[in-house]
Amino acid sequence: MTHSEHETGRAAGEAGRREPLEQYIAEVGQWVADALGAILPAEWTVPQALREAMEYSLQAGGKRLRPLLVIAACEALGGSRDAALPVAAAIEMVHTYSLIHDDLPAMDNDDYRRGKLTNHKVFGEAAAILAGDALLTHAFYSVVQASRKYGVPAEQVLSIVEDLAEMAGPRGMVGGQVADMEGEQGLTDLEQLRYIHLHKTGDLMIFSLLAGGRIAGAGEAQLEALRRFGTGIGLAFQVQDDILDLIGDESKLGKKTGSDIKQQKVTYPYFIGLEASRAEVKTLTDAARSAILEGGFQDPSRLLEIADYLVSRDH
Ligand code: IPE
Ligand code: IPE
Ligand code: MG
Ligand code: MG
Ligand code: MG
Repeated sequence: MTHSEHETGRAAGEAGRREPLEQYIAEVGQWVADALGAILPAEWTVPQALREAMEYSLQAGGKRLRPLLVIAACEALGGSRDAALPVAAAIEMVHTYSLIHDDLPAMDNDDYRRGKLTNHKVFGEAAAILAGDALLTHAFYSVVQASRKYGVPAEQVLSIVEDLAEMAGPRGMVGGQVADMEGEQGLTDLEQLRYIHLHKTGDLMIFSLLAGGRIAGAGEAQLEALRRFGTGIGLAFQVQDDILDLIGDESKLGKKTGSDIKQQKVTYPYFIGLEASRAEVKTLTDAARSAILEGGFQDPSRLLEIADYLVSRDH
């Protein structure tokens, strides 16, 4: 979709003809994918092999859920979708890097991701590690463009950079991944698993929501509501990921099921069984919904729809 078509689509929405969630997801996903396709400035000299390895995983597909959260949070507060794009692209880069590294032989040792061979299977381990490093670093460059290109106040961008470093780094996703690697059946308890899930998965979602809010000029109470919402849907999302690893359809998921059992991971189904895990997804999502409903948003409906959509997701 071109930029002007995108504008037209939004204008139709504003006029009251609000598109269904599926269409909104597809539109935002395509828009973000297009931006990711041109993410490295054309005038930069970058090794071709690195460009290819980054591009391979960025364009392999994926649900683009985190960019969706950035944009939906921004729009829930009346903010500009365009201004949110650099941050939406940034979080997808961080997420994609985390997946490339997560799949490495030293971590989950998986061969398929997003319906394709994993990055290291195609480019080799060294290239995959470095493509991940490059995606992480370039994400910060992209965040700064929110200010450079779209005039988001530097003070907001500073908070977004700070949040990204906190929530993707040792206190956030990386900390969660380390705890995940240390987890052991028979030693790790459910409380520790909650920590793992909240950080390895929840924190990038919380970041996405807060960043969208910040771009739209959210106040403290709204940021707190977004944080609570992200905590609920983030944990629910990873519990559902655990469920799908057991009973999901590989062709829909684009990755092999049974990875957790193969690696003897602790998961929600491992501790509480499948049915209670399903109920937990529902309970966490209901709590997330309440947080948003009480948050004083201009239009919370997309965020609520996304929460509902995630409960029943099969990929
Ligand atoms: C997979 O995330 C890794 C987890 C945190 C569970 P997604 O399920 O969002 O993966 P993509 O982006 O759609 O490939
Ligand atoms: C991955 O969790 C979380 C991150 C990549 C940060 P999983 O290991 O459960 O994700 P999948 O199942 O491989 O997508
Ligand atoms: Mg993992
Ligand atoms: Mg994995
Ligand atoms: Mg998993």
